[in-house]
Amino acid sequence: MRKKIVAGNWKMNLTLGQAEQLINDILQAGLRLKDGQEVVMATPFPYLLKAKSLLKNTPGFYLGAQNSASEKSGAYTGEVSAEMLQSVGVDYVILGHSERREYFQESNATLAKKIDLALANGLKPIFCCGEPLEVRKAETQNEYVAKQLEESLYHLTEEQLKNVVIAYEPIWAIGTGLTASAAQAQDMHAFIRAQIAAKYGREAALRTSILYGGSAKPSNAEELFACPDVDGGLIGGASLVAADFLAIIQKLG
Ligand code: 13P
Repeated sequence: MRKKIVAGNWKMNLTLGQAEQLINDILQAGLRLKDGQEVVMATPFPYLLKAKSLLKNTPGFYLGAQNSASEKSGAYTGEVSAEMLQSVGVDYVILGHSERREYFQESNATLAKKIDLALANGLKPIFCCGEPLEVRKAETQNEYVAKQLEESLYHLTEEQLKNVVIAYEPIWAIGTGLTASAAQAQDMHAFIRAQIAAKYGREAALRTSILYGGSAKPSNAEELFACPDVDGGLIGGASLVAADFLAIIQKLG
């Protein structure tokens, strides 16, 4: 069946020394993941190589990046391409995070290009979607998320979709301490799965891992992960604290 994944999105945090310490603390706990469970650590770019060397011998632990360029290569100062990420051993790349959409003007169309380049270079995109508070208040979150999926993912073949993970991150729950209730998360995850089923068929939908993100922490992870359509989490703040991240991983069951 589909994979259960806990992914840590470190965002723009930690020095190299702190990053090494965090990874070592997590690995030294000696967690044994069950079949079909994966952990991803999405570090800042400068730490990827080091993180790879630390993670590479631990089964089930994968390396993620937090972004990749929408162009293949060339004169794009400051950008990092999917090919570069692949060449340093990155497995997953977070694309379409709401912070990238808001502060760096990433559109659904730009994200479609990034998804294509990631897949072409053997990276698995963790594609983020999710609505702002005003959309939730207007109760139009389903339409909003459906459009994000349609414009960034639906050009993919069913075969390509196999390598895509979806993360639902309601913007009003990110870094706010305000978590979507388990019922709100389940409703949206079931809706996303139904959308995928309508486009790609039931089998493809059942195979797609859909993660929840937004103030997930040890105290609420169990209830969220128990929802039938929640296949794990994309964790921000709590992924920077080894004990919290480990506790969340253990809630995968
Ligand atoms: P927090 O867990 O800090 O709310 O962040 C969620 C997130 O944005 C993960 O990508």
